[in-house]
Amino acid sequence: MVAETEEIRGIGHSVRRVEDDRFIRGAGTYIDDIHLPGMLYMAILRSPYAHAKLNGIDASAAQALDGVIAVVTGELMAQHNLAWMPTLSGDTEAVLVTDKVRFQGQEVAAVIATDPYVAKDALELIDVDYEPLGVVVSPDQAKAAGAPLIRDEKEGQTDNHIYHWESGDEESTDTAFAQADRVVSLDTFYPRSHPSPLETCGCIADVNPATGQATIYMTSQAPQLIRTVFALVAGLPEEKIRIVSPDIGGGFGNKVPVYPGYVIATAASLLLGHPVKWIEERSENLISTGFARDFHMHGEMALKADGTMTGLRVKLDADEGAFHADAQPSKLKVGLFHIVSGSYDLPTAHVTADGYYTNKAPGGVAYRCSFRVTEASYMIERLVQNAAYEIGMDPAELRKKNFIQKDQFPYRSATGFEYDSGDYQGAMDLALEKVGYEQLRKEQADAREQGRLIGIGLASFTEVVGAGPHKDYDILGIKMNDGAELRVHPTGKAILKISSQTQGQGHETTFAQIVAEELGIQPEDIKVMHGDSDDTPYGLGTYASRSTPTVGAATAMVSRKLRDKARKLAAHLLEVSEEDVEFEKGRFTVKGAPDKAVTIQDVAFAAYTNFPDGMEAGLEGVTYYDPPNLTFPFGTYAVVVEVDADTGVWKVDRVVAVDDCGVRINPMIVEGQIHGGLCEGFGIAAMEQITFDEEGNCIGANFLDYLLPTAWETPRFELGETVTPSPHHPIGAKGVGESATVGSPAAFVNAVIDALWPLGVRNIDMPLTSAKVWEAIQTASAGAASG
Ligand code: CDP
Repeated sequence: MVAETEEIRGIGHSVRRVEDDRFIRGAGTYIDDIHLPGMLYMAILRSPYAHAKLNGIDASAAQALDGVIAVVTGELMAQHNLAWMPTLSGDTEAVLVTDKVRFQGQEVAAVIATDPYVAKDALELIDVDYEPLGVVVSPDQAKAAGAPLIRDEKEGQTDNHIYHWESGDEESTDTAFAQADRVVSLDTFYPRSHPSPLETCGCIADVNPATGQATIYMTSQAPQLIRTVFALVAGLPEEKIRIVSPDIGGGFGNKVPVYPGYVIATAASLLLGHPVKWIEERSENLISTGFARDFHMHGEMALKADGTMTGLRVKLDADEGAFHADAQPSKLKVGLFHIVSGSYDLPTAHVTADGYYTNKAPGGVAYRCSFRVTEASYMIERLVQNAAYEIGMDPAELRKKNFIQKDQFPYRSATGFEYDSGDYQGAMDLALEKVGYEQLRKEQADAREQGRLIGIGLASFTEVVGAGPHKDYDILGIKMNDGAELRVHPTGKAILKISSQTQGQGHETTFAQIVAEELGIQPEDIKVMHGDSDDTPYGLGTYASRSTPTVGAATAMVSRKLRDKARKLAAHLLEVSEEDVEFEKGRFTVKGAPDKAVTIQDVAFAAYTNFPDGMEAGLEGVTYYDPPNLTFPFGTYAVVVEVDADTGVWKVDRVVAVDDCGVRINPMIVEGQIHGGLCEGFGIAAMEQITFDEEGNCIGANFLDYLLPTAWETPRFELGETVTPSPHHPIGAKGVGESATVGSPAAFVNAVIDALWPLGVRNIDMPLTSAKVWEAIQTASAGAASG
């Protein structure tokens, strides 16, 4: 029973993460920890070529190796109508190659063996006859006359163009530019990067030949959605498919798509009658699964002479890779990129996007961002800084002059979003105060006189998370609504089942805190379950910071549903009418007689033992939440760097991050999310880079080539917070999981450009390696000398 004085550790408490107990003891259950009787192992043969005709596969030597059970080829998959599968963007993707290879690392064949090492050894015995074809590794090459046609199997596809997409108002934007005093432009490239979760992708497919039941243990951020896709791909009855996602070692968007490995393992299990395990190696993960970004962007801003922004025009080419497999809302071809007007009161804007096939692995996953918002935020925040310098204003002043003001919310943006709430000036003021902006500018000027290059970079980002309202948001036609199911047992302990899928964000802790807040049951008395499609309510899973705005809201709503019933039960126990019952933190009291009280635990017991006539027994319910709008977290980041002009090396002196995600459920977890995001933002700005040579070889297939920041190079972060609740969310929370990755890359790059602007450097594409920075300085000084 809850003692009257015991504080309920609900919303706003930094409750320690319950899941860490098992993680730090090494007692988590990841896919590779699961062993089933009779289990076989699968290894995948991947193409060394980026584009090559497949003339034939000779698997006889592999097949003859002791321990090899089967070699699966595209031909075999085709016999079962499984050589191709739908993608989450409504395109098709080869499961195993039948006609030609379209990217380096594509799945060509799979070996099933009694031992994982035998399976791997057997791959080398497979003889594949490839005929190399011309390769396309950029949108420019994809659209060039005479470019090789990558998707020649698609009926009606005569070039490498996938889609054209527009948002905003072209005519009024053209007028704004025609009437502008100043026009500032920027071409920038957000390079291909990889989410690189600690745990790679994998699965165990277990199809029972006797019952037809398929249980698939899978590293998926969206088990329910994947079950439906599997039913559509394999034609299996949906109730016979169970997807179980146990503990997941990081997802960051990488574990949303359906990968061929999952389908091949399932088909193999079906055909062989044994469970089949497939665990990706690090290099396989890095070259073939879920890349992000790869946006070539051109932005223009129209301004009045006094710095008032009057229009924005953005054009982009998206490099989608060989199959269009983005996981994003069906209606939106480049996700929520059209948030590109950011935090500014822009009267008009026009955004166009064109997607292209290239000979690269599919990309475009929501890598720690809400469907392409990171690219948008980078574009606008780089453009605003350059605009400030070009018109001779301080970048903080230019932002302040153009911010959407606090009293303008709800605010309709030029590209059609309705921002729910914000206080952009408040967040920026706090960041400037914390970093000591005015003083820093003086120190910067003094340092410059001594030949030292200090740079101060700002980014005031607006995110958009919580897809989404059913009118506009679906994936493959399935509406993006989510569920929460709550049952309070007779002793007052509860089980909450949710449709989100935690991959390290701490849902088992924070969602229990929401129930605690609403019902007054301590969070440790609430068990949170997720990740089993047979045992959780339907929903579209966790990515793009959508869990809090959708499942968090559903959790609050189902708790309130139970509270309404609990109030009736309390009235029955207290022998008063329902209107006379008050509720606060787990206690129901009689109005005007606070000593007459029952606890939520008393009520829960009564729900099974002593309920009034006509009432159903039990205290449980389920809610599916359809959010009325998205939520719009925001913040201002300030970064201070010093650049060594002789070497191009830059080091970070300060990082101040002020975030506003509305009401914080668990402040400690929020700070952890922000630390993680800042670290990723820094990595992308400073060192992460995946490139392709002219033959389509992926440079970045291991952690020696693809550099992730370690604790050694990661700077210290200073965090600040403002709180502007979302007016439509039941607990006023906005998502936060992605914000820092969205907001920070521009702040880091802006800081370096701030240091180098007087030398004539206007832009450097990420990552800002010292070699690139040095080269930019040399080019700028050569230009200055000749000019
Ligand atoms: O979808 P995902 O869980 O990645 O993102 P999120 O909804 O932004 O939540 C990330 C983590 O931060 C979760 O554990 C949330 O419950 C927590 N959070 C919070 O405590 N308060 C907020 N206002 C937003 C998120």
